[in-house]
Amino acid sequence: MSILFDPSTSVFHLSNDRVSYIFRLAGGKYPMHVHWGRRVRKVTDRMIERRTIWTEETFSLNETAFDFLPMECPTFAGDLREGMIHVIHENGMSALLLEYESHRIMTGKPALGALPSARGEGAESLLLTLRDKVSGVAVELCYTIYSDVDVIARSARIINGGKTAVTVDKALSACVDFEGYDFNLTTLSGAWTRERQMYTRPLVPGDQGTSSTRGASSVQTSPFMMLARKDATEERGEVYGFALCYSGGFEASVHVDQHFISRAQIGIQPFNFSWQLQPGEDFQTPEAYLCYSCEGMGGMSRSFHALVHNHITTGKFAHSTRPILCNNWEATYFDFNEEKLLSLALCAKEADIDLFVLDDGWFGHRNGDNSSLGDWFDDLNKLPKGLRHLSDEIHALGLKFGLWIEPEMISVDSELYRAHPDWCIHVPGYPRIEYRNQLVLDLSRDEVRDHIVDVIIAALDRGNVDYVKWDMNRFINMWGSASLPAQRQQELGHRYILGVYDMMRRITQAFPDVLFESCAGGGGRFDLGMMCFMPQGWCTDDTDAWMRCKIQHSTSFVFPPSTMGAHVSAVPNHQTGRSTPLATRAAVAMSGTYGYEFDLTNLPAEEIAEIRKLNKRVRQLQPLLFYGDYYRLVSPYEGNEAAWMTVSGDKREAVVTHVCAQAVPNMKDKLMRLAGLDPNLTYRDEDTGMTYGGDELMYYGIIIKKPWGDYMSQQFYLKAID
Ligand code: GLA
Repeated sequence: MSILFDPSTSVFHLSNDRVSYIFRLAGGKYPMHVHWGRRVRKVTDRMIERRTIWTEETFSLNETAFDFLPMECPTFAGDLREGMIHVIHENGMSALLLEYESHRIMTGKPALGALPSARGEGAESLLLTLRDKVSGVAVELCYTIYSDVDVIARSARIINGGKTAVTVDKALSACVDFEGYDFNLTTLSGAWTRERQMYTRPLVPGDQGTSSTRGASSVQTSPFMMLARKDATEERGEVYGFALCYSGGFEASVHVDQHFISRAQIGIQPFNFSWQLQPGEDFQTPEAYLCYSCEGMGGMSRSFHALVHNHITTGKFAHSTRPILCNNWEATYFDFNEEKLLSLALCAKEADIDLFVLDDGWFGHRNGDNSSLGDWFDDLNKLPKGLRHLSDEIHALGLKFGLWIEPEMISVDSELYRAHPDWCIHVPGYPRIEYRNQLVLDLSRDEVRDHIVDVIIAALDRGNVDYVKWDMNRFINMWGSASLPAQRQQELGHRYILGVYDMMRRITQAFPDVLFESCAGGGGRFDLGMMCFMPQGWCTDDTDAWMRCKIQHSTSFVFPPSTMGAHVSAVPNHQTGRSTPLATRAAVAMSGTYGYEFDLTNLPAEEIAEIRKLNKRVRQLQPLLFYGDYYRLVSPYEGNEAAWMTVSGDKREAVVTHVCAQAVPNMKDKLMRLAGLDPNLTYRDEDTGMTYGGDELMYYGIIIKKPWGDYMSQQFYLKAID
């Protein structure tokens, strides 16, 4: 891995064993993209001239030059396409003509101030400073290359080095101009209980992409896009993935221009965003991860998964297995008392579960979703002896105890709202429109954050908790803060997210031994920003096994199973009314952080016995399922089946899961080819004792028995025997 600068050609070449990212200072000043893809040993003149056209001698700004060129950091100056950064000067006019000033190459990578970002073990970073000579505004582009993952991390810092204030009203994190538009674009869109459904279409000249204006990464869209060559498949061909380490509104776009250059950009949502910079102040963009794979979409995912495990997740649980949990939400909703919870916990213990989680409804007087958010004191009607007593009783059963919180929100019917009606995000004179009967706290304000951090820490202390589910159940619009001056109101969206990160940092650091799971009305903020604080997130409120196959399939583009909260729930399923076998619900949930979310008190003894058996299997397989290499085998978006597998790093163990949705009459057994194994090893199916060659499994296939009944699954646990 290295970052090289050749002063004779002004070329920067970032490379590891597999990938090159190359750009050049055209005219000695303007960074132009040359190549991002498979590693090349040497950057030739041909490569440079093809993409950056002008030599030092002939470069001229007066040729609308930038409008035809692949820019590393376009700023709407000489380039008439969508730019990455836009700045308005004190006189209301806008121009930013960035020229090379200096660069620095460092081991590791810099931290990004208050923003979460990937760590830099085994990495090298280039910090390239560009400056606008007229205003003094500078942009520092940061590029990090890793030795262990094929990801380039990019971000930008805008520094007001001038004498007057400027307003930044667009600040994306990365831009890559690809030659041609021979790509399929995949983005993830959905809704509550239908998060991250994958949609693929060919690029066309003009604009396309995905974005969120909801103040969060959202259930409707995801801060991710993938450009795949038209011939790319799961395991072959070139794929470029873009993901953002940010939990607020975002934009990921591709503009195919008049000469068919495809400009891919990703960063903070520019709508309703601006940031004032006084002289000497700076603005840091979130970090974007640009992943290149020549081994198809699977290769991209395995790189992203390694990025998450090696550089993003942190804390005691980041690299370990997780407790098997039982959550009371779908068992009781708001209708519980201590007695009911304890009888559920007792059954959880009998079913060999590790952790009992008390979900929404334990505080204030919350008997529905219309009150008490903000009042983080125990509801003594439901828990007459308080949270600590319940927690002690649960611990006495030999279970760990977990608790649900939603610290970012406030109910109008709450003591907190009555005391501080201006603490919510609102615009004076306009109705405070509620969503799920709640308003959002203005977390840009120090006093609001300080209060919430104090009461939440007190509640978690009181509950003596081992696990926390941090929820967030509504998105934001009608932005207004009672404490920001007029010219800074458009900073609120980003300040809100910085406030969330600040609270998460303080609360998670106060409880280093506690496992935290993020949640947002299901998977409404399932992003890399969250993963920097919490190693797992509730993937979706949809616990239906077949819908889960689809959601987990596309979530796995970026996120490994160790991050995906997944539970076995009751049948008929509460979201779809569908009934699926317990074994299938478990096989699917096992490819995530495993738990149960249904009334165990009503289960027949045989089913409790079955759950005990399943838990044993989960404990055995979880290290492999979490930290092995992930291969998607059959896409549930293409038909009636889904299959995926995980292979250990040394290729000596693998778990393969296959699910068939509807049984069809007169079906035959079928062959399914596996991936990622060692062709020269012999594998034994640990359940049946059958043995197979690795080559046989990958090049011929394994037999999938025709299903008898709907939503049947088959799982193979293979171990090398030679
Ligand atoms: C959200 C979560 C659920 C549950 C409810 C409680 O919808 O995603 O899992 O915690 O809130 O209100």
